[in-house]
Amino acid sequence: MLAAIAVPALIREYRPDDFEPLWRIDQACFTRGISYTRRELAFYIGQKRGFTLVAQSDGTIVGFVVVDRGRQSQGHVITIDVLPAARRSGLGSRLMAAAEERLRALGCSGVFLETAVDNAAALAFYKRRGYAVVHTIPRYYLDSIDALVLTKDLTPQGSDVGPEA
Ligand SMILES: CC(C)(COP(=O)(O)OP(=O)(O)OC[C@H]1O[C@@H](n2cnc3c(N)ncnc32)[C@H](O)[C@@H]1OP(=O)(O)O)[C@@H](O)C(=O)NCCC(=O)NCCS
Repeated sequence: MLAAIAVPALIREYRPDDFEPLWRIDQACFTRGISYTRRELAFYIGQKRGFTLVAQSDGTIVGFVVVDRGRQSQGHVITIDVLPAARRSGLGSRLMAAAEERLRALGCSGVFLETAVDNAAALAFYKRRGYAVVHTIPRYYLDSIDALVLTKDLTPQGSDVGPEA
């Protein structure tokens, strides 16, 4: 699909007044039951060790990424959401590159995430960025759809795998 929204000029830190637009984007990106409730999204955005980056185009939020830091210096991408009209313009890649760069700066040596086994777009996106499937979690979504866990090495040795932007 061709992007109907210009590539945003700005990727910035989350601010509290972004919450409602972010929740609406998440509703647009995932089906009911997989999309977050307001309470769930607020919980993940509020994680003390994590961060949320927002992509803005002409004053409108068009995408975001929520990241946490787990044990053993591993980053955890909770979700990355780009509005349908803004996809395939490199925005998701820019958000992920910014998130990975931040994790490296925080001392993380790797990053992991989960995605539904039937989310072909996300799998293609992550593989293009150098992520590899490490295992499957049965019935993770809606108690019926398996999740794939993917990881990426963020160390200098691993950083030449996959495009950075
Ligand atoms: C996955 C997602 C974040 C990708 O965002 P995006 O801004 O479209 O990604 P980019 O434009 O940076 O794509 C980079 C590359 O990833 C791959 N890719 C992205 N979307 C793809 C698709 N629908 N089909 C095949 N490959 C795809 C392509 O290789 C693409 O490069 P190209 O456009 O030059 O071919 C977006 O589709 C999305 O928000 N989906 C809904 C939410 C979701 O599933 N999030 C991930 C699971 S948590």
